[in-house]
Amino acid sequence: MCPTIAPKPTPSAGGCSTGGAATAATRSASARAVPPRRRPPAAPSRFRSSTPYPGPPPARVRTPNLTTLSPLGASGQARSVRRARNAPYLPDRRLFSGRSDMRTLLIGCGDHGGGTLLPAACSAGISIHALVDSDRERAEHLAKLWLIPQVYASTEDVDADTFDGAIVALPVSAQADHVAWALQAGLHTFVEKPPAPDLDGLRTLLQHAGRAGVHCVVGMNFRLAEGVRRLRSALAAPQYGPISYARVEHIARKPVQSFSPDMSLEASLFAAQGIHAIDLAQVLLPAQRVTSGQMIAVNRGRLATLVAGDPAGGTRLEVHFGSCAAAFSHQVRVVTASGDLLELRNMSELLHLPNGGDEHVREYPGARVLWRTSPIGGGYDSAGYGPELAAFGDLVAGGPAESLASLASLLPVYEAFDELLQAEGLAWTA
Ligand SMILES: NC(=O)c1ccc[n+]([C@@H]2O[C@H](COP(=O)([O-])OP(=O)(O)OC[C@H]3O[C@@H](n4cnc5c(N)ncnc54)[C@H](O)[C@@H]3O)[C@@H](O)[C@H]2O)c1
Repeated sequence: MCPTIAPKPTPSAGGCSTGGAATAATRSASARAVPPRRRPPAAPSRFRSSTPYPGPPPARVRTPNLTTLSPLGASGQARSVRRARNAPYLPDRRLFSGRSDMRTLLIGCGDHGGGTLLPAACSAGISIHALVDSDRERAEHLAKLWLIPQVYASTEDVDADTFDGAIVALPVSAQADHVAWALQAGLHTFVEKPPAPDLDGLRTLLQHAGRAGVHCVVGMNFRLAEGVRRLRSALAAPQYGPISYARVEHIARKPVQSFSPDMSLEASLFAAQGIHAIDLAQVLLPAQRVTSGQMIAVNRGRLATLVAGDPAGGTRLEVHFGSCAAAFSHQVRVVTASGDLLELRNMSELLHLPNGGDEHVREYPGARVLWRTSPIGGGYDSAGYGPELAAFGDLVAGGPAESLASLASLLPVYEAFDELLQAEGLAWTA
């Protein structure tokens, strides 16, 4: 249910102004057999994962008015945030999210924005109050379908003062400008990957985000996909120890053409696939230095590989991503310090091959299935879209950032790919 947009309170009545100004703040309300390895301090690396999402400066954060806008009421909202903080490791966010109080604008209602994020946002408890798409007919059709009261053909027509947040899902070349617009308008922003088409664009956006004082989260759904949550939960068990080796293979069937005349096909590959693969690998095994990278010869699309490691710490990470396959294929392999191997196949099956010293190996030497996706499961939760949007809503309401991607956390992802491009004599631009 999408309620009618309520005008923002005027600054004198405790409302906020555009641009995230100070007045905005007034709106709211061991391994068993292996001895623990001593890791040396991380070497300077361009492949280092960033520190946890720091969030914007608190004084300028704009928080929706939970008391007046929430159907749960203030106590219900407080309860949902409290549960989020006490929740187990990488929980199913649907259990405690209910951010229907954030007045949200969906910018870009194409295949992903209209077909996936819109229903995923509704299932995550985020109410979409207006749609923006240059294809007005499509936006109007979706608005009718989802009972959304307002449609705009462009952000130029939008009075940002009547919104708290924006979800951006535009063509790659249009994303950064719209994210900048939303941030400057003081809107908490969720932008689908990639937030910018290249490294320079990301650095520019980071400057905007630093000035805006609102949350900016990047949609990196694989981080919160059910299979990855299961893998990370399994890895939290003490018998495995830290990850020594991680390998992410992410090979799809597109793109085979560049997304825009300005972008190289390699940059388009990064925007569609590589960004996910490198990010997931970094989340699993941070602080690795890129040691090599290569474009691999294929006749259709592109195939790339990146290797990173920390020789002193004995860790290694390999990422393969491409657009040459007949269908999407996704594999994650992890070997921990204990010698155990965990393998996540196509986000649907998690296998465990124990280390040779495991006491049950003689009677049962094979791999065991730790988890399999349910035949009736799937959808937005399984792919991570629902939990990610719910976590965004919770973050805006004061909850934890957990596995959400910040713009800053994507800097080493872009930098790693930039190294590969440079090593191969390639460019982000066509
Ligand atoms: N995380 C994921 O799994 C995932 C999957 C698919 C797409 N995406 C990302 O989502 C974004 C959108 O992808 P898509 O497949 O929906 O693309 P799409 O081309 O189907 O949709 C884009 C929409 O934006 C509209 N649009 C274009 N320029 C506009 C403008 N200036 N103002 C308003 N509307 C405008 C178009 O009319 C279209 O409806 C891309 O950046 C893509 O990388 C992410």
